[in-house]
This record gives sequence, C-alpha cells and structure tokens, in this order.
Amino acid sequence: MTSSTDLDNALPLDMIIFGGMGDLAMRKLLPALYMAYLHGNLPPQTRIISTGRQEFDRDAYLRFVEDNSRSFIASANFNDKTWDGFLQLLGYVRLDVQAAPDFTTLANAAHPGAQRVFYLSTSPSLFTTICAKLAAAGLVDANARVVLEKPLGHDLDSAIEINEAVGKHFAESQIYRIDHYLGKETVQNLMVLRFGNSILEPLWRAPNISSVQITVAEEVGVGSRAGFYDSTGAMRDMVQNHLLQLLCIVAMEPPTSLSPDAVRDEKLKVLRSLRRLKLADIARDTVRGQYVHGVSGNQEVGGYLEEKNVPADSKTETFVALRAHIDTWRWSKVPFYLRTGKRMARRSSKIVVEFANPPFPLFPDMPGGVANRLVIELQPEEAIKLQIMAKQPGSGMQMQQVALNLDLQSAFQQRRAEAYERLLIDVVRGRLTHFMRRDELEAAWAWADPIIEGWSTLDEKPHPYAAGSWGPAEAFALLARDGFAWVE
Ligand code: BG6
Repeated sequence: MTSSTDLDNALPLDMIIFGGMGDLAMRKLLPALYMAYLHGNLPPQTRIISTGRQEFDRDAYLRFVEDNSRSFIASANFNDKTWDGFLQLLGYVRLDVQAAPDFTTLANAAHPGAQRVFYLSTSPSLFTTICAKLAAAGLVDANARVVLEKPLGHDLDSAIEINEAVGKHFAESQIYRIDHYLGKETVQNLMVLRFGNSILEPLWRAPNISSVQITVAEEVGVGSRAGFYDSTGAMRDMVQNHLLQLLCIVAMEPPTSLSPDAVRDEKLKVLRSLRRLKLADIARDTVRGQYVHGVSGNQEVGGYLEEKNVPADSKTETFVALRAHIDTWRWSKVPFYLRTGKRMARRSSKIVVEFANPPFPLFPDMPGGVANRLVIELQPEEAIKLQIMAKQPGSGMQMQQVALNLDLQSAFQQRRAEAYERLLIDVVRGRLTHFMRRDELEAAWAWADPIIEGWSTLDEKPHPYAAGSWGPAEAFALLARDGFAWVE
C-alpha cells in the first residue's frame, strides 16, 4: 500500500453502506474502495461497515464478499496481501431500516468522532426513513456526509419529497448525489477539452454548429435487474441523469471557477433552458424502443419480453432517441439528438458535434455530407477525432473526409481509475463538483416528467428493434427528417 500524505491528518473514516449486500456494493463499491485502499487514498483509520437484513456475522459477510465481490477486481490489481488488509477494514451490522433499535446497534459500532459517510445504495423509497433514523440515533453530525445513489426518485414529486426529507438532517453541502458518469475520466476530460483550450470556444455555438448527437449504447440486456428496470425504463435509468449530464457539459457556458457551485450553476442553466416538449412534440420528436430476439456478441439472445421477471405485456422502453432544444442564444435552433439503449450493436458512448458546411461550394467536386465533425469517444475507447476535408492526391480537386485522430489511450499510459473509485475519493475529501445539486436534479426531472407522462397518454407500444442492432427504424427517421444521420 502506498501512503498518501494529505490524508495523514484526516479524521478516521467510517464508510457505512446501506444495501451492503446488493449488486452495486459487490460489483462497484467494494472493488472501488479496494482500489482506493491499494493506492493509499483512504484515511489511515478507515472502517467500512456494511449493513443488510441478513443474519450474518462478520465472518459470513467476509465470505460473501470473497464469493461475490473479489472477482470484480481486475487481476492485474489484485494482490492477496492487500486484499487481506482490505478485509480487515470491513464490518457488518444486521439492520432493518424500519427498526429504530437497529440504528442504535449501528451507532454502537461506529467510531466516536469519525468522519461518517453514509452510502445509500437502496431503493430511493427508503432514503427518507434511513436519514431520519440515522439522525435520531445521533449519527448525523456536522462532519457527516450522505451519498445518494440514483435513481433519485421516480419523478419530480418523489425527488422533491426525498430532497426535503434528506435536507432535514443534512445540509446541501453534506449531500453527494451520485451520477457515476460524472466520475468517468473521459467525461471529466470533456470539461478540459472545452475550457482548457481556446480554439473551440469561438466555434462552439450556433450557427457554426449544426447539430449535436449524444449516444450511450450498451451491448448488455437488462440481465438480472428486470424487477427494477421494468418499472424504470431507459428514460429514467439513463436519459434523465447520464445523458442530460453529458448534454450539460457539452452545452454549458464556461464556469467562473471549478468550485462546486460555479460548475453546477452553469449546468443548471442548461437544464432550465431545455425546451419542454408538448404532446405533439413528444409524438414527433421522441422514439421509444424495446429489443426483441436477435444476435448480440455472436450469440442469439431473447427479447426483452423473454427476460426473467418481465411481464409478458410490458411496454417499458429499453431504447430512447429524441430531439431536444436548448433555448439560449448559443444554441438557438441547434438540435441535440440523444440516444441510448440496451442490447444495441455494441457498447459505444460518444458525442458528435457537427459543424455547418462552408456557405459557398467553391470546389465543384465537394462530396455530399458533413465536412467537419468533432467526434468525442467516451467508451469503450477514449479518443477525439476531428474530421476535415482534404484534397485527394492527383489531378483535379477531388475531396475526401479524413480524420485528425487523437488516441487518448496511447497519449496517456497512466492507470484510469473507475468512476466509482474517483467519486468515492471525492466524497472522502469533500469535493462536491462532480455531484448533482438538488436544483439540478429537480430541473432534470422537470424536463423528463412531461415526456414520460406524454408517453403514457399516447399509450403506444415501444417500437421493436432486433437485439444487436442500432435501434428501431424510427430513430433513424428522426434525424433523416432534418437531413442528419447517426454516426456509429
Ligand atoms: C447505470 C444504469 O446507471 O448505468 C444501468 O442503471 C447501465 O442500466 C449503467 O447499464 C451503464 O453504466 P456504464 O458505466 O457501464 O456505461
């Protein structure tokens, strides 16, 4: 374990995880905490206390972690000695979130005077009661922090209710609303691309930009999460949070500093400027899809309706494409196309900024299509490509699109921390910039809610698309109508 100097004087840390046996804890949180420990990014006296309803003693919990979490640590990072050291930090408290006496047990297990971080990785419907009982048990002091996992509510009303309830016990500066996309190296790099360079800024506006596309395509299906997913759908699971956060970073004005409020103020303005869609807009500018049987990763896979725990008549969308507008001077008349889905052709997240073509066709052989595009690939590869026109060698003035290609993977050899590792370290160090503020979250719901309600009024079945494809035909028509096409 490497030692970290700026943590030496930190308070002891109690990281208390609600939902400590859940999927997220096993797949993401504990592996992220292991990596933070490996790299010396946890305070010297750290304890991780998982809570859950199962009657486990500590040994049984450690075995559960061995069996369910260890395999999520990349073998290159795994070492037995560090793992054993990490397990020493772990404890388990059996806790029923409805039972006040269980919180007294938790209080007895906590370090007096420690910096407490409560990570709520449970259904959001439990956030209110957990916070109230933590406070009643005397566990919330001025140093305490609470991390709220998404989805934060189901709609605007439930989000307000949760925010009010959590806000009774924690000040806004103690609340870390997590959107793990904000912890991705590539997403943070977007800020640097936009605000660490001055060459883009004069062009970064209407009418120089003709459209923006944001795609987050997943190859996986819903897997074992159908119970949660079927009452959620792609709009609540991905668009309301991850895609809107990406849109904010692409569209925001330069912040005055990197302080949490300076950055979040600018993102908030974008969210508040998103044009609300009325029923006719929803019918015209949004597409819902649901995957059906197809071939994904060379394997035949069933459709969404065949997944375990999905009702046979489910109308839940596993794909969304839509056209949005940001009503500001900078973005007037520039369409933002957002697209996300499960069981798509491959995992690919990218942002494509298309620039207006030259106003006058000087060269007779100008090929059709877009002359200049900036393609920012976020995952699985990290790359920035600028497509420009070049002359084909030879007589005449034949042109062709070529790309200036920056492969960030080879430009930087350093290790990339996973999003959860980076964000957990931010929580421990009290850095709020990459977390959502209350008003931001509520503004995102205020835009998403009418769309979800509109879909329910229209009561249409989602358009089918074959697993392993790029989504339903209607999503292609959405762009073709405006003279654009998705860039795969
Ligand atoms: C989560 C969604 O927030 O993000 C999942 O709930 C989705 O449905 C996941 O699979 C995608 O994250 P990533 O980091 O794999 O792109």
